[in-house]
Amino acid sequence: MTLRAILAGTGSALPRTRVSNAELATRVDTSDEWIVERTGIRFRHIAEPDETTATLGADAAKQALAAAGLEPADIGLIIVATATPDNTFPASATKVQAILGAPDCIAFDVAAVCSGFLYAVSVADSMLRTGAAKHALVIGSETFSRILDWEDRTTCVLFGDGAGAAVLSAKDVDDDQGILATRLHAEGQYCDMLYVDGGPSTTGTVGHVRMQGREVFRHAVTNLASVLGEVMADVGLSADQIDWVVPHQANKRIIDATAKKLGLPAERVVLTVDQHANTSAASVPLALDLAVRDGRIKRGDLVVLEAMGGGFTWGAAVLRV
Ligand code: UT7
Repeated sequence: MTLRAILAGTGSALPRTRVSNAELATRVDTSDEWIVERTGIRFRHIAEPDETTATLGADAAKQALAAAGLEPADIGLIIVATATPDNTFPASATKVQAILGAPDCIAFDVAAVCSGFLYAVSVADSMLRTGAAKHALVIGSETFSRILDWEDRTTCVLFGDGAGAAVLSAKDVDDDQGILATRLHAEGQYCDMLYVDGGPSTTGTVGHVRMQGREVFRHAVTNLASVLGEVMADVGLSADQIDWVVPHQANKRIIDATAKKLGLPAERVVLTVDQHANTSAASVPLALDLAVRDGRIKRGDLVVLEAMGGGFTWGAAVLRV
């Protein structure tokens, strides 16, 4: 028997308001044609004032708990991956805990921007396997619309808001079910290529997203193909044994180019970027939940998760569902 973190349930939440490219084109100098051709994005959800990173995260968490057949009191660890917390502190994880009414447990945030969910999954996997908790809520939740410069067409058309959640449970297994490998990376020398130009310790303001898109694109394809190769080698599996890839949803061209580099057919890649745009840390768990709920991802499937974002940070995970 081996103690592993297994995927016990998933959930997601999207803000009520959905905005099309055509609607954006009435506010900034852009077009549906440009956005679709360069990114694959058609819609994004934008949070109303009463919808926050913590409320969306808690909504996604409730669904994931129901799918796992667990109560808030069963949870020993809550990690929220976010770059857009409700407050500078406390951690959004503690706010989610309060909304859920979950009693004393471990709760903290992870800041790795778009790779945040991969970082959070890796940390939860380690903590579950060392006995720190029996069940963990791992959440990616973002309200990026609050940190977008709505005058900057090179960034504001790319992002959306939302949340995704997964319950990971520690279980003794005698097969290859659960998280089989995770890999994380960071290269801080590229921190000026994708960042927010504000913060408590510098400007004292929240700031706005700034990005050198073309450079980020180039690094994303190289780094994602490389880290996917690493996790597959870790578990001794080849691309043709993967049932589903759930990639970070930043740009359809990045997803296509990465899949092509690895020889993965497009039919095995979960795509939500058209409907959600880039929801940063929420994108992977949102896409994972969608594919679980519509029946594409089934028990026994081999699933690979990957993401890359500001820092730069990037990572991947392989799990048998
Ligand atoms: O989550 C991880 C972080 N994010 C990413 O991974 C995003 C990575 N980067 C990208 O997805 C792409 O680089 C973008 C979608 C951001 C940009 O696509 P691109 O094909 O690299 O375009 P570009 O930046 O080279 O811009 C091409 C042209 C420029 O005009 P000129 O200089 O050629 O005349 C831009 O000014 O497109 C113009 N442009 C726009 N036009 C209409 C830039 N944004 C827009 C826009 N609407 N929204």
